[in-house]
Amino acid sequence: MKTNLGVNIDHVATLRQARRGSSPDPVTAAAIAELAGATQITLHLREDRRHIQERDLRLMRQTVQTELNLEMAATDEIARIALDVRPDTVTLVPERREELTTEGGLEVAGQKERLKPFIRAFLDAGIRVSLFIAPDPEQIRASLEVGAPRIELHTGRYADAATREERANELRRIEEGAHLASQLGMSVAAGHGLDYANVQDIARVEEIDELNIGHSIVSRAVFVGLDRAVRDMRALIESV
Ligand code: PXP
Repeated sequence: MKTNLGVNIDHVATLRQARRGSSPDPVTAAAIAELAGATQITLHLREDRRHIQERDLRLMRQTVQTELNLEMAATDEIARIALDVRPDTVTLVPERREELTTEGGLEVAGQKERLKPFIRAFLDAGIRVSLFIAPDPEQIRASLEVGAPRIELHTGRYADAATREERANELRRIEEGAHLASQLGMSVAAGHGLDYANVQDIARVEEIDELNIGHSIVSRAVFVGLDRAVRDMRALIESV
């Protein structure tokens, strides 16, 4: 399989936080996802701690056997935690308190000077850095300028496209963006809104080496179990 599958377990924690209790435990979910074929566990420690807690991150750093990818806003508070816990990768994402999920890509072009030292601190600590951005040439070039070795292309507009034409246009933007990033020497992941019906066109994009998928897998897991939900997704990705 050329495309790695990062399973985002945030929404297991969302369910736990609905009762502020101890179950379901995202740490257990991470282990089951790995056994079912996830090659990475992705989690987002949000500033408002609405789902993942610091405890989850610290435990998963000890228990995850594959790769640990921490999605985070570029803030000093979360950076301090990340530099202490040392995930394999940090993915910098925009974060707004009122949003339901990460809505847009990171505005890299408009905050280059702020992001440069931030990214450097992680790279110096041996932590890989990825920037979650729209498939927009300006943001891709800016990502290179700020020193990011990797980007994750936001597939939300592709996933939410209302018509076939719009979806085809968004797919083309993703293909062109992945190609440009690769030509510039950056590696490329993709994610957001990917599900069992729309994942294969993205998995076919040559330069994309990893997909991060959460909501659709956890939703299916409610009915068929997490093991099967991860295996079903892997099978779709593998068969392209
Ligand atoms: N990648 C990034 C950077 C994200 O912020 C998210 C959402 O947390 C995902 C992937 C997964 O998106 P979804 O839950 O829609 O699959």
